[in-house]
Parts: sequence; C-alpha cells; structure tokens
Amino acid sequence: MIYQPDEDRYDGRMPYTLCGNSGLLLPRISLGLWHNFGDVDDQSVAKEMLTYAFDHGITHFDLANNYGPSPGSAESNFGRILKEVFLGHRDELIISSKAGHDMWQGPYGTGSSRKNLMASIDQSLKRTGLDYFDIFYSHRYDGVTPIEETMQTLIDIVKQGKALYIGISKYPTDKQVMAYKYLKEHGVPCLISQYRYNMFDRQVEHENIEIAQLYGSGFIVFSPLAQGLLTDKYLHGIPDNSRAARPSGFLKESAITPEIVMKATKLNAIAEQRGQTLAEMALSWILKDSRITSVIIGSSSVSQLANNINALNNIKFSKEELQEIDRILGE
Ligand SMILES: NC(=O)c1ccc[n+]([C@@H]2O[C@H](COP(=O)([O-])OP(=O)(O)OC[C@H]3O[C@@H](n4cnc5c(N)ncnc54)[C@H](OP(=O)(O)O)[C@@H]3O)[C@@H](O)[C@H]2O)c1
Repeated sequence: MIYQPDEDRYDGRMPYTLCGNSGLLLPRISLGLWHNFGDVDDQSVAKEMLTYAFDHGITHFDLANNYGPSPGSAESNFGRILKEVFLGHRDELIISSKAGHDMWQGPYGTGSSRKNLMASIDQSLKRTGLDYFDIFYSHRYDGVTPIEETMQTLIDIVKQGKALYIGISKYPTDKQVMAYKYLKEHGVPCLISQYRYNMFDRQVEHENIEIAQLYGSGFIVFSPLAQGLLTDKYLHGIPDNSRAARPSGFLKESAITPEIVMKATKLNAIAEQRGQTLAEMALSWILKDSRITSVIIGSSSVSQLANNINALNNIKFSKEELQEIDRILGE
C-alpha cells in the first residue's frame, strides 16, 4: 500500500523552534537512528517508526556514518525507506549525518581530518541516495586534528553543496568556542551543537549550553532517556530484547547499578503523580528548557515513540517537583 502522510501532521501539536540564530525550524522532538535501524533490526518496524514520526510532525531524522550494525547500514536502510515511502517529501525533511568515529579500516577511517570527513560524506550520500544532507556534523573532537582543519572542511562541504548547514558534536568547551569562532569568522556559522543531556548526565547544563547560546548555535540533545535507564523498563531486571540485553546494544548491563535503579524507581513515583510514564517525564524535564532546540529520541517500537511524543503534553514542573527531582538525583 502506498504511504499517505497524515494530513494533520502540521496541526500544531508538534512545536517547531528556530535553531540558534538561523532561520531553520526544528521540531522539539527529533528521531535518531543510532540503534534499531541497522541490518540486525526489523525493517518493517523501522519503516513504521519513520512514518509514525513523520505523521506526528517529526521532520528531523538524525544519522551518522557508523550507525548500524553493521556500520553504514542505518544510512542504507534509511535511504531505501526514503525512496519507498517519502518520495515527494524530501523538502519536508531535515536529515543529518556525521563523521568522526571509527568507520573503515586504516588511518583515514576515523577522526576529524579533512581526509576522513570528505571521504565520509561522499560515502554517506551514496548510501542514503541523497544529493545533500541538511546538516553535517563533526561527530567528535579527535584530540589531534587542528580545529581549523576540521572547521574549514565543514565549510568546504557546504560550499560544495553537499550539506546545507554544519554542526559539531561532543566538543570539549574550549574546542567548542574555537570552532564557533572559526566558523563565524569564515562566514558559515555553526548551526547546531549536539551533546548528551539527561537527568542522569547534566554535565553540559551550564557551560556548553550557555556557550552555544552566546554564539548563536542551536543545541540538540542526545540520549535523553540515558539509553533507556530513564524509563520503567529496568526497574525489575533486564528484559529480553532491551538495549542492555542485546549484544548489539551500546548500553552495558554494568550500567544498571542498584543506585540507578533506586533513583529511577523514585523518579518513576513522581512521574506517576504527574500522570506520566518515567520516559515522558524525563523528556518533559529536558523540553521545559527553552534553550534546548530539540531532543533526539531513540525508540525500538512505535508504542515507545508514541509514548515519547506524549511528553509534549506536559512540560511544566512545579518548584516542588523540580526540587524533589534534584534531591533524588543528588542522593
Ligand atoms: N552525537 C553523538 O555522539 C550521539 C551519541 C548517541 C546518540 N546520538 C543520537 O541520539 C539519538 C538518541 O540516542 P539514544 O537512542 O541513546 O536515546 P534514548 O532516547 O536515551 O534511548 C532510546 C532507547 O530507550 C528505550 N526507550 C525509548 N523510549 C522508551 C519508552 N517510552 N519506554 C521504554 N523504553 C524506551 C529504547 O531502548 P530498547 O531497545 O531497550 O527498547 C530506545 O531504543 C541516537 O539515535 C542518535 O541519533 C548521538
């Protein structure tokens, strides 16, 4: 059956925010393809999640060269689904990819050098079948490559028409500032900065978010549910087929400590009082901050995705709720 997107997908239920000082609107919730879209995953579920997301106003899909497994397969699978179901809707989509983590063998298959980034974007365009990415990121600061080399490469990628905008991910604070300055001075500002942020990992809360704001970069958050730790799924053990149980999952069993489970159990009680699932509350807690342009969620099923989108229905917290959450997190 030919996919017909929901005609009400832009009815206002999904808010859109301007990304930094740019004119680009991003949905407050974006969908990431790190897990659940590789060759090891059920492609019918992957397709269902992408169409469900689009039907609910999620216009931004986040990829990277190495997403899979196997590395690259999330891009190939996404490219196939794009052709199959989103034909005619390319201009409604913001598709991002990244390069910087290990991808192919040898000295040029990793890092932030010009060699790696230039080769990688060509490979990613080929795999997805796209003419250009809307956003292309340096996936990480590699500790070696001069910031000027990486940033000039990103600028050249834009000048070559291979990406419309550029971003950085996980850059340490000093390198974040250097990157913004170089890009601004050379006329291609940093559209967006991507960092991990969730109730369990608040490292970016002050410096990185504030610096991004100061330099006019949007701020997009990954792993908002701490890969599933901020849901009710690990409260009573490790369910089969969860990210922690799967060999391809990045979440290790060792991350599910008694302390984490204790905190998640207490947070779950607050979520229940708010009439939310813990996943919804964890997302609402991030979405309450207007400095966050968008939250990139991951999902392994349509029901999770639906639950996560519900977070938008209640992003207000009382002072008492916030204090109690801080108290639990600080224990
Ligand atoms: N820039 C970077 O370096 C970087 C790094 C990591 C991620 N990212 C981006 O951020 C995206 C999101 O990261 P993430 O996948 O770690 O996000 P996340 O939202 O923290 O975790 C997603 C996982 O949590 C579980 N889950 C989601 N919703 C649930 C719900 N309502 N109830 C119960 N469990 C639920 C699912 O795991 P199960 O499989 O257990 O069901 C799902 O796969 C990635 O896809 C990628 O695009 C970027």
